[in-house]
Amino acid sequence: MKLSSKLKKLLNDQVGLEANASHKYLAMASWCAVTGYEGAAGFFFAQSDEERTHMLKIIHYLNDMGVPAAIPTTKDSTTSFRSLETIIKTALKNEQEVTKAIHKMVEISQTEKDHSTYAFLEWFVNEQVQEETKFETLLQKFDLIGRDKIAINEIDKILASQTTAAEPAA
Ligand code: FEO
Repeated sequence: MKLSSKLKKLLNDQVGLEANASHKYLAMASWCAVTGYEGAAGFFFAQSDEERTHMLKIIHYLNDMGVPAAIPTTKDSTTSFRSLETIIKTALKNEQEVTKAIHKMVEISQTEKDHSTYAFLEWFVNEQVQEETKFETLLQKFDLIGRDKIAINEIDKILASQTTAAEPAA
């Protein structure tokens, strides 16, 4: 089985997107931790781990196809964020970009009749539905509960309750 050069490049780019997401969420977690948002900090530390497992899944797939993955450097060094709401909005935007990139690869794998890559990407398609829904629902909480200190504290508790341990990359 051989990957086309187009898919090879896009899968490698995806390694970068997942690495970037992992780093962004780590920076968000760190800011939340020092701002007193304990729940959000735990949530984003776990989210960062999850993105790393996504990156590893793609690296392993590339390796299975005989391709050494190009491990990218990440440039984002943000240490400060405006608010918890801004963070959730940024995270949602990030997930929407990841979804777009995944869908593009799905379309190409269909066109190229690359059934293995198509099947591999199915997990990511479903994962992105969950990821986007998760952040959309969290964002709604600001309208539903509010933006004052008590409301933010409630939202922080909700984030704590949604923290999940990342599953190991297969
Ligand atoms: Fe791996 Fe949340 O995209």
